[in-house]
Amino acid sequence: MSDNPYRDARGNKDFSVTDPSKTSHLDIDPTRSGQAVPADGDAPFLIGENMTGGYGRGADILHDCTVAVNRGEIAVIVGPNGAGKSTAMKAIFGMLNLRKGRVVIDGRDITALSPQDRVAQGMAFVPQTNNIFTSMTVEENLEMGAFLRRDDISGTMEQVYELFPILRDKRRQAAGELSGGQRQQVAVGRALMTQPKVLMLDEPTAGVSPIVMDELFDRIIEVARTGISILMVEQNARQALAIADRGYVLVQGRNRYTDTGEALLADPEVRKSFLGG
Ligand SMILES: Nc1ncnc2c1ncn2[C@@H]1O[C@H](COP(=O)(O)OP(=O)(O)OP(=O)(O)O)[C@@H](O)[C@H]1O
Ligand SMILES: [Mg+2]
Repeated sequence: MSDNPYRDARGNKDFSVTDPSKTSHLDIDPTRSGQAVPADGDAPFLIGENMTGGYGRGADILHDCTVAVNRGEIAVIVGPNGAGKSTAMKAIFGMLNLRKGRVVIDGRDITALSPQDRVAQGMAFVPQTNNIFTSMTVEENLEMGAFLRRDDISGTMEQVYELFPILRDKRRQAAGELSGGQRQQVAVGRALMTQPKVLMLDEPTAGVSPIVMDELFDRIIEVARTGISILMVEQNARQALAIADRGYVLVQGRNRYTDTGEALLADPEVRKSFLGG
């Protein structure tokens, strides 16, 4: 058996992505292991723990909900419409007040931080909708992603263009003119411009064809290989769980099932209720 974790449990069979002899498009930070090792002891790299809360003064949407991802791993949240998947992502990013629970990144409790301060802590979030500036060019979108940085961003931009070559070709075009799949690449690229430690994606493959979806998932695996943790909500539950180290099924704001992606895919109850049999 290969000692490369990306060849086994993730279900990705595209060895051009998983072959370690091929260099990655993204610089591998030597201070990050790239292995599926928790940050400190058994603690996950990022955890939204026992989260309870809702919007403004409204009723609670999340009920004791826990979602986590280890360093360099892919965690996937699935569940029916309205289950609270986006709300869980927004809670972790600091966009709603939690009545209970906490958010911890790399051992640091960030529950009280604003979204902007969470970006400074290494968090990047691509929301489900309105995740690009349509009237700006592709390159301006990437520049906007780096607004918190004071250092030279050209190296990171080059890495994004190597990860998504079509964006280089279209860098002077208004992002709103691009196809759905290309727009999602802009959104992911913009998030990568902050050099995040964890990349949070809310339905990155919404509205794209199955081929484009596979391509995007391969690029996401490639990002994870560089040591960046991925926390992703997906409607394409089967395909997403196939590349997930860990999967969460949320229902009505609560954790219903949590296991490896592989185990969830094999679970008859999960299959029947959430994966269409
Ligand atoms: N901004 C908001 N203000 C008030 N309630 C909201 C807001 N956004 C979502 N909700 C409510 O929170 C609940 C969970 O919605 P959420 O968007 O988190 O679900 P989801 O699992 O992401 O669904 P989908 O699969 O449709 O994206 C729903 O009842 C929704 O109506
Ligand atoms: Mg949603």
